[in-house]
Amino acid sequence: MSLQGRSAIVTGAGSGIGKALAARLARDGASVVVADLRDYDVAAAEIAKATGARTLGLQVDVSSEADVEDLVSKTLQAFGRIDILVNNAALFSPLVPREFDRIDAAEWRKVMDVNTLGVFLCCRACAPHLRASRCGRIINLASGAPIKGVPFLLHYVASKGAVIAMTRALARELGKDGVTVNALAPGFTLSEGVKKQPAHLKHGAAIPATRAIARDETPEDLVGAVSFLASDDAAFITGQTLVVDGGSAMV
Ligand SMILES: NC(=O)c1ccc[n+]([C@@H]2O[C@H](COP(=O)([O-])OP(=O)(O)OC[C@H]3O[C@@H](n4cnc5c(N)ncnc54)[C@H](O)[C@@H]3O)[C@@H](O)[C@H]2O)c1
Repeated sequence: MSLQGRSAIVTGAGSGIGKALAARLARDGASVVVADLRDYDVAAAEIAKATGARTLGLQVDVSSEADVEDLVSKTLQAFGRIDILVNNAALFSPLVPREFDRIDAAEWRKVMDVNTLGVFLCCRACAPHLRASRCGRIINLASGAPIKGVPFLLHYVASKGAVIAMTRALARELGKDGVTVNALAPGFTLSEGVKKQPAHLKHGAAIPATRAIARDETPEDLVGAVSFLASDDAAFITGQTLVVDGGSAMV
């Protein structure tokens, strides 16, 4: 129960990787806000039942300033503080992998709105409360894709490269307040969303063979790293990108 008394927001936690991360932080003792466009209530109730933690499900579009402000004020009403922000919400599994010259500008902008503007808005709105916590933590879901140069998702790869850059710069801005900012870079992970998309399964089929530990990656493979980065043991680690992919990308 290393996070007893702390309050965490996990965006995109209605399903997939985000839900697994929210459940682990709850198991570690944190009160957890499940913020998503959909399935936020069901996920929050399931996590509370499974862990005994206090949870709150909120409908939030991370690319909307008004929604993000509302997320922060309702979190404070419910739990009185914000110690941990996990920026997990992103447009990923609904995207169809294809050559860069078949991506239109509207889809590019939408990906950037959710995957980069959304991270910025959540960091900006939570920052005063993370500073006040004195043990504030931001954990951004990046990806191994910009590190490895994965083809056929150029907008997504660009957005996750931006997340790594934002993590480094923000770590320097928030370090004096004791807030750490780190990124987690998963490999191709069989989340609920990915499992429903034959195009992603086809695109990722060859990836397990590139790993030192040559098996499929699941959301459960990621929860320990986030639990650690959120804990007091990681207080002097900031600006880093932790690759958790069974040893495919080695940095
Ligand atoms: N699954 C993978 O292979 C993989 C690999 C590397 C990184 N990642 C990253 O991990 C994170 C989670 O991956 P996943 O596979 O569970 O993704 P996913 O696409 O299946 O789910 C993302 C979640 O975010 C929510 N969401 C989407 N847009 C939102 C918005 N505007 N506001 C709030 N919530 C929104 C969705 O409803 C969904 O619950 C993402 O940041 C993704 O980019 C995933």
